[in-house]
Amino acid sequence: MTETGKKQGRVFSGARPTGRQHLGNYLGAIKNYVALQDEYKDTIYSIVDIHALTTVETTQNLKQNTYEMALDWLAAGLRPDESIIFIQSHVPEVMELHTFFSMVTPLGKLTDLPTFKEKIRQQPHNVNYGLVGYPVLMAADIALYKAVLVPVGIDQAPHIEFTREVVRSFNYRYKTDVLVEPQMKATQVPKVLGIDGVSKMSKSLNNHIELAATPEETQKRVMQMVTDPQRARRSDPGNPDVCNVFTMHKIFSSAEEVEMINTECRRAGIGCVDCKKIFARNLNDNLAPFRERRAAWAQNPDQVWDVLNDGGKRAKVIAEQTIAEVKEAIGLP
Ligand code: AMP
Ligand code: TRP
Repeated sequence: MTETGKKQGRVFSGARPTGRQHLGNYLGAIKNYVALQDEYKDTIYSIVDIHALTTVETTQNLKQNTYEMALDWLAAGLRPDESIIFIQSHVPEVMELHTFFSMVTPLGKLTDLPTFKEKIRQQPHNVNYGLVGYPVLMAADIALYKAVLVPVGIDQAPHIEFTREVVRSFNYRYKTDVLVEPQMKATQVPKVLGIDGVSKMSKSLNNHIELAATPEETQKRVMQMVTDPQRARRSDPGNPDVCNVFTMHKIFSSAEEVEMINTECRRAGIGCVDCKKIFARNLNDNLAPFRERRAAWAQNPDQVWDVLNDGGKRAKVIAEQTIAEVKEAIGLP
């Protein structure tokens, strides 16, 4: 514990600049960024623009997408006086560590990763070298800041395990203990489903609900949500246990409403349309303070860029120190 009553040990997370964030990003990751900011003294959050270059869609509109994402993070409650919020490429030391890590990484381990296999399926015409090395760069992100805890969605679990292995290999190869093995931290909803009710919510599948959408847009998206597929008619009883809308109610609605829906859905007392209307209203109510804070930051884009530039300077100080220790450990002349 420190004098501020917060825990020692650094928290680090990153996300590619995909622009406006969705409920999946929020419930799977950002919610924990904010919670850990309250709990830990050192929290660092990075917009990983170099990682974005591995796929063509995320290579476009980098500036605008970075800005939109930073707005969402600030609106969600990240405080620049407490957390470092920065752009990955502002601290090029990460690419040095990436190269050092690549020498202790068996190629087969990278090509065996489920995340890599999925990417090959998604973009068979762009299986670039950077894509294979994606987890190595992510490991470098985390290790550069000696983070002990990494808040991410469950899809990132293989990458965190990989990071632990690389750190172990590095420390073993160079008979050192300069680098630290991190732990993953998932939220209560580590995998948020999209409005299709089947796949992980993601922008590329267009099954997402943006945090910064207007209340009207949000309601429209919610009304498109797929519910219990067995419930074909209004008069059929439903099963909330297999309904993604009910999962969301449990996060955004009051205990009484959750109880009411749980009971009434099962005996066809409430239909999916009404159930979704209640959810849309509660979601909009929950997001109202977020949207207000976002609008306030958006009044001053320069201030948002200042936050990111200042964060980069603070992150660089830590990174330079680690790189010096790493080079010393390797024994580079
Ligand atoms: P991405 O936008 O894919 O770079 O993800 C940024 C962060 O949000 C990562 O920590 C992901 O694990 C998390 N995330 C993205 N989509 C989801 C989802 N549908 N459910 C849970 N977490 C997610
Ligand atoms: N791979 C992560 C994702 O797709 C993004 C990321 C890059 C990251 N570097 C990181 C997450 C370091 C946590 C820590 O979401």
